[in-house]
Amino acid sequence: MRVIQTVSELRSWRTTQAGGSIGFVPTMGYLHDGHLALVRRAHAENDMVVVSIFVNPLQFGPHEDYARYPRDLERDLRLLEPEGVAIVFAPSVEEIYPPDFSTAVVVRGPLAERLEGAARPGHFTGVATVVMRLVNLVQPHRAYFGWKDAQQLLLVRRMVRDLALPVEIVPVPTVREPDGLAMSSRNVYLSPEERVSAAALPRALFAALARFQEGERNAEVLRQTVRTELAASPLRLDYVSVSDCEVFQELEQVDRPALLLAAAWIGTTRLIDNVLLDPGKRSR
Ligand code: PAF
Repeated sequence: MRVIQTVSELRSWRTTQAGGSIGFVPTMGYLHDGHLALVRRAHAENDMVVVSIFVNPLQFGPHEDYARYPRDLERDLRLLEPEGVAIVFAPSVEEIYPPDFSTAVVVRGPLAERLEGAARPGHFTGVATVVMRLVNLVQPHRAYFGWKDAQQLLLVRRMVRDLALPVEIVPVPTVREPDGLAMSSRNVYLSPEERVSAAALPRALFAALARFQEGERNAEVLRQTVRTELAASPLRLDYVSVSDCEVFQELEQVDRPALLLAAAWIGTTRLIDNVLLDPGKRSR
C-alpha cells in the first residue's frame, strides 16, 4: 500500500497504470466498517483500489464542524493495510485547492437544493467540486458511494451523467450498528446517552418501511409514521421526506423507486439516514 500526498506524485503513478481497472473510494477519513464495505466492493470488482482521505473544507458551512471533524491518518492506514488497497491518496488542502483555485461545480435542481441542500447551503457544490477534482486525478473506472448519504450519491450520479464523465458510480448499502444506527464518522460526537437515543432514527424509518412492505403506498402515512415514532424520543426531527430516486421530488404516492429520508438532531449532532422504498421489490 503506497501513501501519496501530492497531486504530482498521483499523476505520475496514474500515467504508469496502462491496463487493469481502478476502483476509487473517496472518503474524509476516520474510517469505519461502512467505508471498509466500499473498499471491499471496489476490491471485488476491480484490479486495484485507490482510497482518498481528504476532509474537504469546501463542503462545510462556516458554522459547521470542519475544525473538529475527526482525523487520524495512522489509524486509517492501519485499517486499510489488510484490505489490499494499492494507493491511499491523502493530500493537504493546498494540494487540492492551490491559492489560485477558482472553479466550482454547481449541480442545479431539487437534488442539490432540497433537504440536505437546503439545510446546508453550498454543501453539494463543495461535494461536486471535490469529487470532480478527485475523479479527474485518479481517473478510476468505478467510484463507490454509500447509500447512507443517498442525496450525495444521487447528486454525484447526476453530475457524472450530465458531464459524461467516464466513470461508473457504484452504490453500496448502508452498514449499520447492531441497534440499527447507520455507521458515520460523526457518531463519535455522540455522548453515551445520545448514542443510545440515536437508534430511534433508524427505528422510525424501519417502522415506516415495514408499513410500506405491508402495502402502504401513501407517502404522507409513511412520513407520519416517522414523525410519530420520533415524537416519543429525545430526537428533534429536521425533515422527513419521501423523494423519488431520479428527479428527487416529494411524492404523494410511492409508485416508483423512492427514498424515505430523515434528518434529526440529538444535542448538537445532526443525524441523517434513509431507507429505499422500491414498489417493485419487497425489501432492500
Ligand atoms: O461522503 C464523503 O465522505 C464526502 O462527502 C466525499 C464524497 C468523500 C467528498 O468529500
